[in-house]
Amino acid sequence: MNTVFLRKALPIIFGALFLFSPAKADEGMWLPLYLKQLEGKMQQMGSKLTADDIYNVNKASIKDAIVSFGGFCTGEIVSSKGLVFTNHHCGYDAIAELSTTQNNWLRDGFWAASHDKELHVEGLSVKILVRMEDVTAKVKGVDGKDAIIKKLKEEAAKEGPGYEAEVKSFYYDNEYYLLVYQVFKDIRLVGTPPESVGKFGGDTDNWMWPRHTGDFSIFRIYVDANNNPAEYSPNNKPYTPKHSLPISLKGVQKGDFSFIMGFPGRTQRYLTSDAVRKTVFTDYPMMANVMEKKLNVQKSFMDKDEAIKLQLASDYASFANTWKYFLGNVYAAKTSDFIEKKEQFEKEFTAWANADESRKAKYGNLVADMKKAVEADPANDKVMSYLNFSLFGSQMVGYAVKYYQAAMMMGDGDTIPEPVMGMLAANKESLDKDFKNYNAKVDRAVFSTMLDLFMSDIPKESWPELLTKGDYTKVKAKKGQSRTEAYTDMLYSKSIFADKGRMKAWLDKPSAKTFRADPGYSFLQAVISVYMTSAGKNSAADKAYDELMKTYMAAIREFKPNDMFYPDANFTLRLTYGSIMPYDGRDAISYNHITSYKGILEKEVPGDLEFDVPAKLKNLLVTKDFGRYAENGDLKVNFLSNNDITGGNSGSPVINGEGHLIGIAFDGNWDSMVGDLSFQKKVQRTISVDIRYVLWFIEKYAGAQNIIDELKIVS
Ligand code: ARG
Repeated sequence: MNTVFLRKALPIIFGALFLFSPAKADEGMWLPLYLKQLEGKMQQMGSKLTADDIYNVNKASIKDAIVSFGGFCTGEIVSSKGLVFTNHHCGYDAIAELSTTQNNWLRDGFWAASHDKELHVEGLSVKILVRMEDVTAKVKGVDGKDAIIKKLKEEAAKEGPGYEAEVKSFYYDNEYYLLVYQVFKDIRLVGTPPESVGKFGGDTDNWMWPRHTGDFSIFRIYVDANNNPAEYSPNNKPYTPKHSLPISLKGVQKGDFSFIMGFPGRTQRYLTSDAVRKTVFTDYPMMANVMEKKLNVQKSFMDKDEAIKLQLASDYASFANTWKYFLGNVYAAKTSDFIEKKEQFEKEFTAWANADESRKAKYGNLVADMKKAVEADPANDKVMSYLNFSLFGSQMVGYAVKYYQAAMMMGDGDTIPEPVMGMLAANKESLDKDFKNYNAKVDRAVFSTMLDLFMSDIPKESWPELLTKGDYTKVKAKKGQSRTEAYTDMLYSKSIFADKGRMKAWLDKPSAKTFRADPGYSFLQAVISVYMTSAGKNSAADKAYDELMKTYMAAIREFKPNDMFYPDANFTLRLTYGSIMPYDGRDAISYNHITSYKGILEKEVPGDLEFDVPAKLKNLLVTKDFGRYAENGDLKVNFLSNNDITGGNSGSPVINGEGHLIGIAFDGNWDSMVGDLSFQKKVQRTISVDIRYVLWFIEKYAGAQNIIDELKIVS
């Protein structure tokens, strides 16, 4: 835990701080604002860049080519016409939404031959960081903090066209930063490989190495005539960026310097041993178990029906990704000694705290208090998890939640108040969208499976009353039917929330009385009432814990004043640097740092959903038509580096010491799955798709010379 960061990096003490270069070059998600302190170390490792080349608010720098993609991924600008590379799994939702069974881009891939063929993606936006600023002194411990934050954001938003700003908490509310972005709202799909390439290996290979996935997709940013962000318009034109990344065909060698910039979402590297133990060994297996049941139901339908597969594809993929993430944490925790290391650190910390009277008063009981907070109410934690994933797990219930506030405002009266009518009108507007990916057949199967699971795993005293004396007990089961099946049938054949036609009919002529009599609404009410009780207890515990963490975070920085502590990931722009590197896994397993096209052919299972290789691809590989993208006659596919990334970094550029793009990061490896809780120095690796495979695929498979011609390729 003796990690990193120089927070109070006032320019005036830069020189002094330079002495504390970070002990571990590979660990750390660094704020670009403080790169000056890492510059020397990076150059020592092979970087030819200065901190200013990477982050500069006064002139174009590499950060101007890095975009937050949709708020959940990262992308990089690779041409002077606003072309963006990201992962296939980042574009997945957009691709699935644009697909139909007739034009199935998800299955077949998509390549726009010219700008006018590019497909606008409803609701997708990207943002570029304009600047960031430490506003801790303006915000922390000040009365009316919220008002100050609001003002800071409003003022920053006025600085430029399409600007939006946020103030984010770092180090558990010990520091605050203002982040100013330019937000682009007209984003179009330019190209994507078929899913069999973009997601080659499927859920089986997910989170694993060796990998052979072409996990990339291509988008474009459109702007108005003045190169400013604008809502979608057919008249918009491609964005001219301040900077775009040149692409290197040199390839990667073991030990080469590499850095990654992107928007990592969430890490919890500073939690105490008790918290991580509970997270990994109690919470994760429990949630994975519930999730798996739902996934199995959905998959049984998706495998049989292409339309259902398209409907559910995106939700399923992200849910399955999280499910496997939880399992991977349990797996990786077994071989890591990170919990013991945390315990050791806590012992030393507590001894240090107790060695001084005033410290003792502040910090002496901190670790013990956190243990108490973490372990306060396991039964309630379980109820919360189950509610989230089981009783709220069906789309029908998820949709009904949308009406909860309206229901509260409706009260018991017969007439529906004006503001509620406004809400209902909005719901009517979005009806098609809300039901687009709804399939009643699948959803009722999910619902009944989840309900049974809840009732078998959660003690009766925590059940919603509806299950012990309400609707559920009153329904009559047909012969051979369980009560849950009978209840589910009743719900799905009657409730307005379970059918678009019924919902529309009700929205056309809303009646408070019918609403209150709806069995779906009764279910929602019953579940929410349990949820409120449970969440109430939970949020009190969370709040207490957060307060303790805030103190602990400050305390450990006081304990180790010479260490640099980087802040946990929070979807803000970060940089991680390291090198291309293989690793040794479990006993007797050594992994190479790079994979070859040969592995694609080895893994091929014709007709398989995960390992089928399209005939065209196979033909190109077998005939070794690799052109200038080959390395000694071989086509490289994916590679490893010891950069420190997490979810949200997906799609991030892997950049060499010259500032050229060499790969697109898309995953982490199975041996280091606890990495979000503790960086696993020996085994933690970033998995990236080699940019030469990406370009080869675009040129040879897709024949999209128009895209190749746009790029700045250096060889
Ligand atoms: N594990 C990757 C991540 O969390 C996502 C990989 C998507 N691919 C897949 N086969 N599901 O960023």
